[in-house]
Amino acid sequence: MTNEEIIQIDRQNLWHPFTPNSLWLDPSFTPISIASGEGAWLISTEGRRYLDGNSSIWTNLHGHKHPKINQAICLQLDQIAHSSFLGLTHEPAVRLAEQLIRYAQPALEKTPELRRVFFSDDGSTAMESGLKMILQSFAQNGQSQRTQFVSPDGAYHGDTVGAMSLSHSDSFHRHFQPVLFPTKKVMTPSCYRCPFNRAKPENADARSYRKCNFECATFAEEAIHQTGDRLAAWVLEPRVQGAAGMVMHPHGYAARTSAAARKVGARVFFDEVLTGFGRTGPRLACHAEDTMPDVIALAKGLTGGYLPLAATLTTEDIFQSFSGDPSRTFFHGHSYTANPLGCAAASANLGLLESPSEIMKQKELIQNLTTLSSSLWTHPNVGDIRQEGAILAIELVADRSARSAFSPEKRVGAKICQTAREFGLITRPIGDVLVLLPPYCTTPDELEKMVNALHQAITQELGS
Ligand SMILES: Cc1ncc(COP(=O)(O)O)c(C=O)c1O
Repeated sequence: MTNEEIIQIDRQNLWHPFTPNSLWLDPSFTPISIASGEGAWLISTEGRRYLDGNSSIWTNLHGHKHPKINQAICLQLDQIAHSSFLGLTHEPAVRLAEQLIRYAQPALEKTPELRRVFFSDDGSTAMESGLKMILQSFAQNGQSQRTQFVSPDGAYHGDTVGAMSLSHSDSFHRHFQPVLFPTKKVMTPSCYRCPFNRAKPENADARSYRKCNFECATFAEEAIHQTGDRLAAWVLEPRVQGAAGMVMHPHGYAARTSAAARKVGARVFFDEVLTGFGRTGPRLACHAEDTMPDVIALAKGLTGGYLPLAATLTTEDIFQSFSGDPSRTFFHGHSYTANPLGCAAASANLGLLESPSEIMKQKELIQNLTTLSSSLWTHPNVGDIRQEGAILAIELVADRSARSAFSPEKRVGAKICQTAREFGLITRPIGDVLVLLPPYCTTPDELEKMVNALHQAITQELGS
């Protein structure tokens, strides 16, 4: 098919996620059709090369067309593409479960230990599985009053009804509010936007110069304490709230709030769909916080960004609460649970993540991201540049000294990312927060091109 045919047929027949129809169908907008990929590059049907600045919506870790992941998928395809996991098992799932459990445990044995793996398909279903596991486990342990969940404002855990209920995103979920179950929200731990941060703006990550009494953690602790023995779980994207605008928490927030949840006998449920697999630096963000959850959701990078697969890891005691009478079974699962192709890709991905050369590449990328992004401070509309591991967020403001936002109708972030395509970079903003989240294989030269493309796009849209 020609590029024009693809676009025309797409516009006639398809419906894209998180995409305004008015934009997609606007004749003055030209969608890009991706034909192939190679390392950090996406190649369009027209043969134009773009750097994949958000790792194909935060999924890709080692680049596209990686020979080891491709080979693992092909070898598995020669055996079988899929068989049910309901009452059957297979080697790719067994091998991956062992690898995942090893990967999730920090060097020093920490409790609780994540010992059981439940597979699903994506981030939303991994969260849905965890949520139901927690509720049923309490119900079967004589604590059926524990039905409450607390999570920070702006939390995003996916688009199924349970995951939406745990989230607090008005723009995404407001039409569904009547069918969502109520959950409590606490203030977002966002230093740049915090009403308690008395610091004047500086050209640095707002977390590094904050002046406050850690009110965000105190308020969360209070909400957890007040919910007491009705609390089922404290739910958190540790260290980075992705869809909230890459909100990066002051370090220690996850540890303090999780300790409060433990004190009232509740579960700690971490959503590491985005932050897992080295995105924030260590293997998992919970390792950086030295805090193991009772339940963790992993997806996105699990297969290195190759196939849809997710996992919810939990403790032996939660698993054991489903033992005994068959009525205590976890009646939950999906047709493609533990898909063998996905498991094979994930095993290859984990192998790469633990190889010394890949670990070195990722460390260098994180360091280069810090160095290169500092040049963006020269632009007067850059209000905050924050980085956690291999995630970079640039928050644009109308006035730096007042930290005042642009009016949303101006769609500043969206226009800049659209312009960045002309400079060879594909990435997606969250409102006026620009995001660079490159694959770990991105070379220093490619990374420089990404940062320069963003800089040029900001200057073209906002002046210098
Ligand atoms: C933290 C977090 N949790 C859950 C999800 C939902 O994942 P999925 O889109 O794979 O369902 C996302 C997606 O962006 C996410 O960022």
